[in-house]
Amino acid sequence: SVISITDVLAGKFPVNEEITVHGWIRTRRDSKAGISFLAIHDGSCFDAIQAVVPNDLNNYDEEVLKLTTGCSVKVTGTLVESQGQGQAFEIQATGVEVLGYVEDPDTYPMAAKRHSIEFLREQAHLRARTNLGGAVTRVRNTLAQAIHRFFHEKGYFWIATPLITASDCEGAGEMFRVSTLDMENLPRTDKGEVDYSEDFFGKEAFLTVSGQLNVETYCSALSKVYTFGPTFRAENSNTSRHLAEFWMVEPEIAFADLSDAADLAEDMLKYVLKALLEERADDMAFFQQRVDKTVIDRLKALISTDFVRMDYTDAIEILENCDKKFENPVSWGIDLNSEHERYLAEEHVGAPIILQNYPKDIKAFYMRLNEDGKTVAAMDILAPGIGEIIGGAQREERLDVLDARLSEMDLDPADYSWYRDLRRYGTVPHAGFGLGFERLIAYATGIANVRDVIPFPRTPNNAAF
Ligand code: 4AD
Ligand code: MG
Repeated sequence: SVISITDVLAGKFPVNEEITVHGWIRTRRDSKAGISFLAIHDGSCFDAIQAVVPNDLNNYDEEVLKLTTGCSVKVTGTLVESQGQGQAFEIQATGVEVLGYVEDPDTYPMAAKRHSIEFLREQAHLRARTNLGGAVTRVRNTLAQAIHRFFHEKGYFWIATPLITASDCEGAGEMFRVSTLDMENLPRTDKGEVDYSEDFFGKEAFLTVSGQLNVETYCSALSKVYTFGPTFRAENSNTSRHLAEFWMVEPEIAFADLSDAADLAEDMLKYVLKALLEERADDMAFFQQRVDKTVIDRLKALISTDFVRMDYTDAIEILENCDKKFENPVSWGIDLNSEHERYLAEEHVGAPIILQNYPKDIKAFYMRLNEDGKTVAAMDILAPGIGEIIGGAQREERLDVLDARLSEMDLDPADYSWYRDLRRYGTVPHAGFGLGFERLIAYATGIANVRDVIPFPRTPNNAAF
């Protein structure tokens, strides 16, 4: 089977023996002495391996000297300890087979020079080949694996919640419709409204904005569960932290309250960021050097300090009394804007902060009403540089209070009969949260825009391939 360059650089193969690697050319350099140096990478790690190619190879002039960034090759040679600095090993090539040239290297969009992140975004099909694109992809994978490992080690079950649903979990009306109706010839009821009983599911259906309501059903049976998958929001937010399609991690814990959910969120973030620093030191060193000089120190500090927890009401007081002039005025009851969240996280504490107990009027119907009757047991985790990365709550487990909330918010209890059943049959206190996976990756790498941490970003007016 094909050998990965990661394993070669890790010293897993004997020196002074023949080896064959496959990959793409990062750079080619030719010495006056008639030797070429090829840096070959296969994406398995940040680093490339150097192949030293002598000019007596039979295809040296014809082929080796035509290699440019992005060409694919199979290189055979002797693995030796490297004399120069950088890698510990290199290959003294005895054969270079060209698998694919780059047509017209002058116009190859991923040529070996620094590209702006905006330019790379327009080349979504090629950007994984760049140093940045490769590093982001490996970091994303490491974080996803660490998330599953964290929950597995803690005894949580991974639940597949549906992507197609009839429920608007967040009640924000930001759902994409799923329909097979003929748009040019929509069936109508007597009242002239679109008749969704004619549609595929026999009723209106949408892409999910959150797996929470569904995962609550499994929480009410298996106690500790989580879902981790894509979610969709048709919010017209052209910002650096919103995607129309993003991934969410949503644990749900039975016999638990808000502070249990906050503890779990804090433990999870620390666990996965520690795993990232340990497992992807190569890529993190690159982000530190190229993207954000403080990123590694920032993550280390986060791992080793307790998160500050603060009530919404206290946060409002801090915002009202600080020197900063905000574009959006502050008063009790407002939904915090990104500028407020960032002030609290960046300037007030200088680290992630857990804000709790928000006014009920700005939060979803399922959040548990507090004793004061005006706040709910909600929490958001706000991170420097990005703002909200986690939103969660203790859920309303009391049927009468839930029903009162539904009617207060003009929601039809019939639409929530299955959700109400959970409260009718053996209800338990429970709590959970949702982590925006792309926001976590942005925070963990220092990359400013969530569009650059998902392979194929979906945003308003952009659903290319
Ligand atoms: O705060 P949100 O809307 O919470 C929920 O959906 C709950 N049902 C979660 C739960 O309790 N199980 O979203 C959760 C997180 C946000 O904190 C944010 O990080 C991320 O999802 N998020 C987005 N990420 C990228 N693009 C968007 N458009 C996002 N909207 C929310
Ligand atoms: Mg939220």
